[in-house]
Amino acid sequence: MDHFLYRDGMLHAEDVPLSDIARGVGTPAYVYSAATLLRHFHLFDEALAWGPHLVCYAVKAASNVAILKLLGDAGAGMDVVSEGEYRRARAAGVPGDRIVFSGVGKTEAEMRYVLENGIRQINLESEPEYRLLSKIAAEMGLDVPVTVRVNPDVDAKTHEKIATGKSDNKFGIPIARAREVYAELASLPGLKVVGIDVHIGSQLTDLDPFRAAYRKVADLTRALREDGHEITRLDLGGGLGIPYARSNLAPPVPMEYGQVIREEVGDLGCEIEIEPGRLIAGNAGILLTSTIFVKEGEGRDFLIVDAAMNDLIRPAMYGAHHDIVPVIEPTPGADTRAFDIVGPICETGDTFAKGRDMPQVDAGDLIAFRSAGAYGAVMSSEYNSRPLIPEVLVQGDQYAVIRPRPTYDEMISRDSVPHWLE
Ligand code: LLP
Repeated sequence: MDHFLYRDGMLHAEDVPLSDIARGVGTPAYVYSAATLLRHFHLFDEALAWGPHLVCYAVKAASNVAILKLLGDAGAGMDVVSEGEYRRARAAGVPGDRIVFSGVGKTEAEMRYVLENGIRQINLESEPEYRLLSKIAAEMGLDVPVTVRVNPDVDAKTHEKIATGKSDNKFGIPIARAREVYAELASLPGLKVVGIDVHIGSQLTDLDPFRAAYRKVADLTRALREDGHEITRLDLGGGLGIPYARSNLAPPVPMEYGQVIREEVGDLGCEIEIEPGRLIAGNAGILLTSTIFVKEGEGRDFLIVDAAMNDLIRPAMYGAHHDIVPVIEPTPGADTRAFDIVGPICETGDTFAKGRDMPQVDAGDLIAFRSAGAYGAVMSSEYNSRPLIPEVLVQGDQYAVIRPRPTYDEMISRDSVPHWLE
């Protein structure tokens, strides 16, 4: 459930009509609902209430500091994959002891930065990585809590670009080799083994792959304990999918996911960490855009909108579906027409939807792309020299710009011309 609903004939974000935001901020713009973000975080928190746990929001999904502060103040931990994300989480007031550091290619500088500034745990993904971390941590006189990300070789049954738990993916250490890896780790200075980490992919709409992966993690926990390791924490990753198309069957909800976790690893007495991103932020954000032209083409009609693939790359990159709705509520039973909904960028891939049925739309009308809160703004670029678009947070009847739209001058003045060209 989200808080973008029609009321008095107009789509609202909580209590704010989207037309007010379009008037105040312009389009295109990302609009987030604080109530939806918090609701989703609390659903996960409640789903794990049967035992000690920490819900570490995956910052990569939507990383605006205001969003991180909202979730951090509600008690969320954070899962970060770069120094930039770590700094954002800290800027939002999240203490280091609630931040886990994941990622397949952490640099030495990044490791040093988080060690100097405080970190709950580092999830390690390869031998060269843990040898480097051991050297740095020992030099600094630290004992860093670490887990090893294991690759359970489970098919997540999701888009191939976002599946991470098969043996041919770049992530983690093959679970079959985990015991020897933990043995080496335990002998290295500067590192303190605390648990196991796993993440098999994103936008999973079936619980079976989670169950299969967590069962393997439970077996490994027992084996590692027999080998003498103290396994007290399990980081079970993120990945629970969201309903992108309202017409489809809804994927499992956090409570059902929490139940699977309880069934598979609940008897091990470990503290559970999870790293959900998409489910918290995805349906908590929309991309608000305006129609520039309605263009009649050869056998098909185009709705050319002022947002483009540089603002929301998911359809171009993954063939992803986003529901697209007019901001003015269509009259029930009104005629619809099929449109290709496209942006202004000079490539055919700049297509958000093909043959999508829409009610009567005219130039200037406002349109909302739903489910755009996760992997939307964070994946945007300035391609075609289109400045990054603003982000707006709504809470109740108030809204605030949480990232302004840069001016053209701001965008251009970042470049500099070398002296020999002057
Ligand atoms: N933990 C780790 C280690 C991850 O790699 C990811 C996502 C997450 C947690 C959060 O997964 P989530 O709960 O959001 O599914 N750009 C793609 C999604 C990439 C996901 C990358 N890793 C998209 O737009 O669909």
